[in-house]
Amino acid sequence: MTQIIVVNFGSQVAHLINRRIRELGVFSELVPYDISVDKIKKINPSGIILSGGPSSVYDKKSPLIDKKIFSLGIPVLGICYGLQLVGKEYGKVLPGKLKEYGKKYLNVKKQGKLLKKLNAKEQIWMSHGDLVSALPKDFEVLAKTDTCPTAAFENKSKKLYGVQFHPEVVHTLKGMQILRNFVFGVCKAKKDWNINLASKLINDIKKGVKDNKVIMGTSGGVDSTVAAVLIHKAVGSKLHCVFIDHGLIRKNEAKTVKDRFKKLNFEHFYFVDASKLFLGRLKGVVDPEEKRKIIGHTFIEVFEKKVLELEKKHKDIKFLGQGTIYPDRVESAQTSKEASKIKSHHNVTLPKKMKLKVIEPLKDLYKDEVRELGKELKLPSNIIRRHPFPGPGLAIRILGKITGERVSILKEADYIFREELKKSGYYDKIWQALAALFPLKAVGVKGDARTYEYIISLRAVTSLDAMTADWAKLPDWLLEKISSRILNEVKGVNRVVYDISQKPPATIEYE
Ligand code: XMP
Repeated sequence: MTQIIVVNFGSQVAHLINRRIRELGVFSELVPYDISVDKIKKINPSGIILSGGPSSVYDKKSPLIDKKIFSLGIPVLGICYGLQLVGKEYGKVLPGKLKEYGKKYLNVKKQGKLLKKLNAKEQIWMSHGDLVSALPKDFEVLAKTDTCPTAAFENKSKKLYGVQFHPEVVHTLKGMQILRNFVFGVCKAKKDWNINLASKLINDIKKGVKDNKVIMGTSGGVDSTVAAVLIHKAVGSKLHCVFIDHGLIRKNEAKTVKDRFKKLNFEHFYFVDASKLFLGRLKGVVDPEEKRKIIGHTFIEVFEKKVLELEKKHKDIKFLGQGTIYPDRVESAQTSKEASKIKSHHNVTLPKKMKLKVIEPLKDLYKDEVRELGKELKLPSNIIRRHPFPGPGLAIRILGKITGERVSILKEADYIFREELKKSGYYDKIWQALAALFPLKAVGVKGDARTYEYIISLRAVTSLDAMTADWAKLPDWLLEKISSRILNEVKGVNRVVYDISQKPPATIEYE
């Protein structure tokens, strides 16, 4: 399989570039900026893209790369900060001279290989303060803007290419064409990603697992269900799936998940009701990270107990299946040295004591690719379209102490919210929707009586991959309907608010 690598300088745009290359049908992977030349040689990519980044090449702390990368004979495309790294190596970069942010126009002097099929004037998206002011003769400047003399260049003999603007964002109207020019025109990559992906992944699992058994914790979500279905197709009844109910799952979820696995013909599905244990340990806990830790540890404890029990009965359980996807690994700071830990997601923590080998068939995929795979596997659309639901469940949506009363109030409100979103068709238009309970009471009036009850916050967001998110612009009539249903049907709530915060600075979940 051909492959492109995107060198990550710690900015979110690196993901976007990576996704765009995959959209072109070519596998692409993020690598950290301090990757060694030997490692690159081993990967043997068809092309290297240097991503944008927040820093100036002159900052003391700015991430640099091994210059030998430029002479490997592998085509390199520098984007924004990436272009400046090339510029710094071969020419001159003037710090802070370029004040171009947002929508701009590119004057294409020559198409070359990189700007093929572009018109003389094209809309682009700029975002940087430094500019490349001079380059040696063998570098050909292909385009300029009013204030940027080197907006795109190419050096065919050295196979070095660069754009000062961002081809990966939609505001650069011919951005995909530029990436296509680089990936296919320059790198000669083949379009072989995503073709027969399911059968390839199933074969890989078969080869890895052989005659052993696999155990897997499933949450009923898209990722773990798709991973379980792949593993099931590979090893059949040698797969044992465990669903742990920590008491903080959604209304009716236990039944839905049980029914789903039955319908999918899983021979071994175990439902473990551990809600009393979890809720007991969470009693009185307020700190979000403390909640996450308790849930994470208890989850592992309950899971381990079940594994031991199954081991005695079935023997030869050697593998642990997990639904880890690409952003899970990246958010856990394995790829980007710059990524800081914001919340401790427990998806990738493998219990140390367990001597099981991990299989993660989805580890290289983005969420939308997992959904495509689900379609290829002919999974029902209600599974494929399901919104993400966090491992710690409603615990991180009840701000402050978790009590039985708060859990049942939130379950009801959340149920109504989702039901109305589905009925109206808005469920499929957004990334995720959730209800949260504030640990505060407000005064209200119901009938003629004063009430003193909880506040429910509704949060619906649009997003590509949960790394950034915008609040969903749901129509007034829908918000009104949801609010009035919650106020009328859920006892203990007298106020509903709609969250209009973007991520960043907010996050999607509350804790
Ligand atoms: P945040 O709140 O960090 O959420 O903006 C980003 C995405 O991750 C989900 N999320 C989790 N998923 N275990 C999970 O499996 C977790 O501990 C967890 N915390 C947040 C969240 O729902 C959103 O989709």
